[in-house]
Amino acid sequence: MDSSLDQQSSAGAPPPASPAAPSAPKVPVKPAGKPPAVVIESTPDPPVNKIRRRIVWASVVGFLTTCFLMFIRFFLPRAIFEPSSTFKIGFPGDYALGVDTKYQQMYRIWVDKTSDRLFVVYARCTHLGCTPDWKPSENKFKCPCHGSGYDSEAINFEGPAPRPMDRAHVELDAEGQIVVDVSKLYKWPKGEKNEFNDPGAYIPL
Ligand code: FES
Repeated sequence: MDSSLDQQSSAGAPPPASPAAPSAPKVPVKPAGKPPAVVIESTPDPPVNKIRRRIVWASVVGFLTTCFLMFIRFFLPRAIFEPSSTFKIGFPGDYALGVDTKYQQMYRIWVDKTSDRLFVVYARCTHLGCTPDWKPSENKFKCPCHGSGYDSEAINFEGPAPRPMDRAHVELDAEGQIVVDVSKLYKWPKGEKNEFNDPGAYIPL
């Protein structure tokens, strides 16, 4: 009898309550709206990093600039720009008798004036092409390479030079200025025709 009562009571009664679970802490619910602004704090770069960055950028810019210039250079003509072979050197009256060396550096010439003519010597030794020196105290040209000597009119008289130094074409323009053309030279090879008296080899005074 007791066991049946027990069965009835267990069938009609609500199930025994399970032991209470620990409740989670309550989080306060914020009202919906704009999210809070996030503040990120950054520290400034140390100076070493800045310098390194500048060096890298400078290298990159330098490399690109070089490439660009080489690219441009590719389209330019590979020509050698030489000074003109024709030029003016003033009036005959500007020169005293003897050798004038003022255009040696600029045009590689000497202006030589005698009592009856003015001519222009091309300053190139006829041995192997060195530029001789004018020695006013000795009244001669002396080649520093192998010792050839030339008198004041550039006529060879010592050393291995085979002939006098050449003379450039000269003429007067409309104003009376001396015009020199070093692309046309007058020579006096040994045993051959002397061109020093040809028209254009000198200006008569
Ligand atoms: S080049 Fe002038 S003497 Fe030889």
